[in-house]
Amino acid sequence: MFELISLPYKDLSPYISAKTLSYHHGAHHKGYVNALNTLIQGTDYQGQSLEEIILSNQQKAVKIFNHATQLWNHNSYWIILTAAFKKNSHNLQTNRKIVQKFC
Ligand SMILES: [Fe+2]
Repeated sequence: MFELISLPYKDLSPYISAKTLSYHHGAHHKGYVNALNTLIQGTDYQGQSLEEIILSNQQKAVKIFNHATQLWNHNSYWIILTAAFKKNSHNLQTNRKIVQKFC
């Protein structure tokens, strides 16, 4: 079962308001967690990590793949905005590689 991660902050004003954070976390993100848990119940995907589901499921079950990728995106988005993420040199190296490859 996937769980909704806790937000490490409540307000990022003036860049992201508390209302927007609350909407994306409490409604949007939570919706992906709940929907994915329902979709994978009783399937071979139950018990797999998000990454395993995403990497093995691009053609077989599009709805599960879409919810898994959206959940991964939202988890990553919140974590990337934290100061702890920016202090980790491995994360910075990965970020540079992504920018070099895709930007
Ligand atoms: Fe969102």
